[in-house]
Amino acid sequence: MQTITLTRPDDFHLHLRDGKAMSSIVMDSARQFGRAIIMPNLKPPIVTTKQALDYRKRILASLPEDCDEIIRAKKSGHIHAVKYYPAGATTHAEDGVTDIKNVYPQLETLVEQNMPLLVHGEVMDLEVDIFDRERIFIDRVLAPVLDRFHKLRVVFEHITTKEAVEFVKAGSDNLAATITPHHLLLNRNALFAGGFKPHHYCLPVPKAEEHRQAVLAAATSGHPRFFLGTDSAPHAKHDKESACGCAGIYSAHCAIELYTEIFATAGCLGRLEAFSSHYGADFYGLPRNQETIILEKRKWTVPEILSFGDDELVPFRAGKECQWKLKH
Ligand code: DOR
Ligand code: ZN
Repeated sequence: MQTITLTRPDDFHLHLRDGKAMSSIVMDSARQFGRAIIMPNLKPPIVTTKQALDYRKRILASLPEDCDEIIRAKKSGHIHAVKYYPAGATTHAEDGVTDIKNVYPQLETLVEQNMPLLVHGEVMDLEVDIFDRERIFIDRVLAPVLDRFHKLRVVFEHITTKEAVEFVKAGSDNLAATITPHHLLLNRNALFAGGFKPHHYCLPVPKAEEHRQAVLAAATSGHPRFFLGTDSAPHAKHDKESACGCAGIYSAHCAIELYTEIFATAGCLGRLEAFSSHYGADFYGLPRNQETIILEKRKWTVPEILSFGDDELVPFRAGKECQWKLKH
């Protein structure tokens, strides 16, 4: 492919108008040009220094601030991605995005900065059945976004459905997915087995068995765009065991042991290392870790309760056995 590299140009004669009209077009210029000489052509005209400086402030304020924030984040060297939360989709996501179109300028900046967008992929349309929210998200949000932003790198987080698996597989190298241990181990029956089980409640909510099977097949397939992400999400016991219980499963106390058990049970232990230690780093463009860890096949029992600040939490598999143990 032929490419040409230029010093970022300036626009020495530009009209931006004012107010809402300005807001809707200002990014078109800002995307390309480093600076601009703005010809106001406003009514009333700009005739004093103060008016000109006020106009300048309005212009700067009309630039989506978050784009600068994304550039600052990238420059920090420690912020590797940006998370997309649909408003209300999960814990403390009330201030999330109400319409993906509202953040198109930010998505464009992510493309420019080659930074991934990490997606909580559920529609927050309360008309949509809770078990369908991920599937519908693909059609309504993710597919159109990827059509529009071909080069946007996306991690579809904590996938739970066969539709998500298919979508990721059919996608380009820019699209990957994380898979949690609990979504590999639980189907939706686990939420209601012998009474409601708040410690199995998480978002996205576990799906029917055929979906769990599809996600399990993806994780253990050796496909390089599926990789480990626990979504371990601790909540105090009393917040989970409540009339309005929080979503989230704490798995960090035995995460790699669980993944090991899952891969061993599937007869795919040989694919565990790539899933857990290579593919994610590769997708993010980070170096693979150099150190190693050792796991041994040895039964142990997960504690019933762990301390959590001044509270307690009930870990995943509380009081039950794990088949593998990390060696220290
Ligand atoms: O179950 C969940 N809990 N899912 C999420 O996406 C967030 C998490 C939390 O922060 O509690
Ligand atoms: Zn999460």
